[in-house]
Amino acid sequence: MNGTQTSGYSKLQITLHWVIAALVAFQLIFGEGMTNVRDAAEEGTTASSVDTAVSIGHYWFGIAILVLVLVRLGVRLMQGVPQRLAGTPTWMDWAARLVHWAFYLMLFAMPLLGLLTVYVSDAFGDIHKLGKPVFIVLIAVHVVAALYHQFIKRDGTLRRILVPGR
Ligand code: HEM
Repeated sequence: MNGTQTSGYSKLQITLHWVIAALVAFQLIFGEGMTNVRDAAEEGTTASSVDTAVSIGHYWFGIAILVLVLVRLGVRLMQGVPQRLAGTPTWMDWAARLVHWAFYLMLFAMPLLGLLTVYVSDAFGDIHKLGKPVFIVLIAVHVVAALYHQFIKRDGTLRRILVPGR
């Protein structure tokens, strides 16, 4: 599934990484607006205009994430990913792979669960909400790893996702 190994990420891969990251940040920070709108509808009250606006963003940004992650996987299959850095311990390599595939899984599962909540049953909402702490833990591990590479190993890993390598 990794496709060919290359010297760096392409401009398209880097753009997709940061656009998806920004959209996910919005979903995690403002997701409760969607919950508030649904709670208000259930109670027969009116949600605030901010929550209403945020919930529309939540719906469409969530669908955009689903589409973009599919594009990202397609690009990964066609363009490949950079080679693992020489000298990285095997366990770290596996940990990185595990976290990256967990991200892909979550990026699929969360929009699908959101859609199931809206169109099938409220029961999916509880599982969808559980995705928030899971995402936060994954992001924390991912960021700590990036900082470790940047400031302790100084091996240019962070640069790979900022500057196109081909
Ligand atoms: C990666 C994409 C997504 C992320 C990270 C995400 C994240 C969140 C978060 C953090 C909450 C608030 C949880 C809370 O109140 O504690 C939430 C609520 C909600 N989201 Fe999403 N969401 C995503 C995509 C979607 C999509 C595509 C839809 C629907 C089209 C959707 C529908 C909902 C609904 C209906 C709720 C309220 C659940 C309830 O009240 O039971 N979400 N989401």
